[in-house]
Amino acid sequence: MASQPKNVGILAMEIYFPPTCIQQEVLEAHDGASKGKYTIGLGQDCMAFCSEVEDVISMSLTAVSWLLQKYGVDPKQIGRLEVGSETVLDKSKSIKTFLMKIFEKSGNADIEGVDSTNACYGGTAALLNCVNWVESSSWDGRYGLVVCTDSAVYADGPARPTGGAAAIAMLIGPDAPIAFESKLRGSHMAHVYDFYKPNLASEYPVVDGKLSQTCYLMALDSCYETLCNKYEKLEGKQFSISDADYFVFHSPYNKLVQKSFARLLFNDFVRNASSIDEAAKEKFAPFASLTGDESYSSRDLEKVAQQVAKPFYDTKVQPATLIPKQIGNMYTASLYAAFASLLHNKNSSLDGKRVMMFSYGSGSTATMFSLRLRKGQQPFSLSNIATVMNVAEKLKSRHELPPEKFVELMQLMEHRYGAKDFVTSKDCSLLAPGSYYLTEVDSMYRRFYSKKESEDGKLANGH
Ligand code: ACO
Repeated sequence: MASQPKNVGILAMEIYFPPTCIQQEVLEAHDGASKGKYTIGLGQDCMAFCSEVEDVISMSLTAVSWLLQKYGVDPKQIGRLEVGSETVLDKSKSIKTFLMKIFEKSGNADIEGVDSTNACYGGTAALLNCVNWVESSSWDGRYGLVVCTDSAVYADGPARPTGGAAAIAMLIGPDAPIAFESKLRGSHMAHVYDFYKPNLASEYPVVDGKLSQTCYLMALDSCYETLCNKYEKLEGKQFSISDADYFVFHSPYNKLVQKSFARLLFNDFVRNASSIDEAAKEKFAPFASLTGDESYSSRDLEKVAQQVAKPFYDTKVQPATLIPKQIGNMYTASLYAAFASLLHNKNSSLDGKRVMMFSYGSGSTATMFSLRLRKGQQPFSLSNIATVMNVAEKLKSRHELPPEKFVELMQLMEHRYGAKDFVTSKDCSLLAPGSYYLTEVDSMYRRFYSKKESEDGKLANGH
């Protein structure tokens, strides 16, 4: 029987995103949107998307195999594997079962867990499950593995520039450099129709964009209030934004992240938290009597809150925005890609820091939770995680496609979604060595994948 585990959390991470992308500036011009709408209005730089040889299964196969290989983890050491995804390729067979192919050679079929689905929240559900498993009496001493994988695509229209694609794999266990403060969690779950996928013949969601923004902010307020109350009970003092070093948000597009953090400051003002200085109090004062609903629709409050928050945003949020701005919304992987940006930007200075994470999935489900970072020991150290993910190199080695090619691919994927009996081009020339890719969907809808091998069998630099 294993001893009671301490500091349970994330031991190792790997991120994979497609090498194909489009600059938002270019897409903006192509779509006939006013200049600056996607880049300044939404706050996005670039958007990744899957080509016809990639999907959520190939991306997750790549992320998991790279993680095991780069950290030297024996596949036999995995006891639980959970996937979070909202990209449905099969209504019954889980993505997790495809990943079992990686474990076949080791003979390890004794791996619990399946897929979790609720919009962008499924990855967080999977993560909390794995952490809870390691902390529970049924833990057998092996690692948990969580995979968040999504291809976010929208129909032609205002939501299209908020797409993206990626897979993230996270190894879970005790003595982690990224440890959960398990008592510091606040959730908000409700029934709303803000973004949903009722049309099973289409990969595209039905979206009420404006409602989804308000639902996101309402869930944020509610989670923050719950977490603050729990903190106050535990610590005997008020919680405010000054009690965390960094705030990481589910990032559909960067403007919403800016607004969300500003909203936390307004919450601190309403709760009369000590962190709010006199100048900020004066600025917020005209909005003190707004009802909750009024506060969500007040453009003046939004503007003032963003002004007050700006200096704090630059230090506490901005370091966690790089990958979401470059890749776009990765649905379940989005929050963890934002966190990966923080590791990339600040890895050597993160020892001892507290990070607040906010996960939102439409429909809706949301949790705010707290992580405490520690230097860690090789190979599971913060600095090694940043080295392994090699974000700068992966971003640099992408290929920008013209908008016509992007639109053509979207049309092909619309046609292929739910289809059978086709082979792909098998063109993996843009993929990094060691990447998996889709080769065929046969007449029984069975999907087949291959792995692009490098000449010497090693992974390329940066991958
Ligand atoms: N220069 C600078 N800014 C501009 C310009 C311009 N030329 N034109 C517009 N803008 C600004 C707008 O003022 C607005 O900013 P603001 O909110 O600070 O006022 C912003 O660009 C967006 O423009 P809108 O016209 O308000 O919105 P649009 O109709 O383009 O839709 C939306 C944006 C709702 C985000 C849409 O892309 C969408 O539905 N996306 C998917 C849903 C989503 O991501 N929801 C988030 C939570 S749920 C989830 O994660 C899926």
